[in-house]
Amino acid sequence: MSCSKIASFVYLLTLASLLQTAFGLSHNCSDTGSFSAGDPYEANLKQLIEYLTSQTPPSGFGRRAIGQNPNRVFGLALCRGDVSSEDCKTCVVRAGNEIRKQCPYKKGAITGYDYCLVKYSNIEFFGQIDNQNKFYLWNPNNVSEAYSRQTEGLLRVLAKEASADPISLYASGEILVRKSVKIYGLTQCTRDLSITDCKKCLDGIIDELPKCCNRLEGGRVISGSCNFRYENFPFFKA
Ligand SMILES: *[C@@H]1O[C@H](CO)[C@@H](O)[C@H](O)[C@H]1NC(C)=O
Ligand SMILES: *[C@@H]1O[C@H](CO)[C@@H](O)[C@H](O)[C@H]1NC(C)=O
Repeated sequence: MSCSKIASFVYLLTLASLLQTAFGLSHNCSDTGSFSAGDPYEANLKQLIEYLTSQTPPSGFGRRAIGQNPNRVFGLALCRGDVSSEDCKTCVVRAGNEIRKQCPYKKGAITGYDYCLVKYSNIEFFGQIDNQNKFYLWNPNNVSEAYSRQTEGLLRVLAKEASADPISLYASGEILVRKSVKIYGLTQCTRDLSITDCKKCLDGIIDELPKCCNRLEGGRVISGSCNFRYENFPFFKA
């Protein structure tokens, strides 16, 4: 690669990561209804986001229902299990603001960032596995079949570990593939799920490895109730 090509490649990477930081990795506006400017739903949603912004950071998880039917709104926020409450707060503030801009006047929406997930709906969803919203992200470099088998093995272990810890529903770990090559992984569920449903949710998204990131060096599945990520570099605090 020439210097200018490398420079523009680095520039694109930087731009992509800035865009990701501002707009999130992925989002989905739900089709469960719309509201108009000035509706009570709008005020309830605003209050919900404020609640999540202040209540999520200390523990990494917050959920709440606000208002009365037909303007009742349900929401949750989840921060990655290893992030500080400061980073958690920054993420939830940004996610809560951006998702309302990306899904204007939608009663329901979800957005995923590196450090957090924010979801709300006019339909109660607490304690249920979200099979509607599912995002795939991947690192396009190919890897061997052995690496892929080890990835799945690591994620299965981490799914067991996360669902064995009802307080955090989070696990992270690494595995040595061969000399100086490691895979790093994490699994996490939203804390409205039971440990049984957490396991079920994680097993379900790990089954989607071939769809998401078959023979690829890194990947993630982010669903509304659970997610995993694996990379060939450390991306979480142990
Ligand atoms: C977005 O939500 C709709 C239902 O509201 C669902 O059918 C669709 O699969 C979702 N898209 C993703 C990427 O999760
Ligand atoms: C990765 O593997 C796929 C399927 O075997 C192949 O189509 C693709 O060209 C490979 N990509 C690279 C960068 O090697």
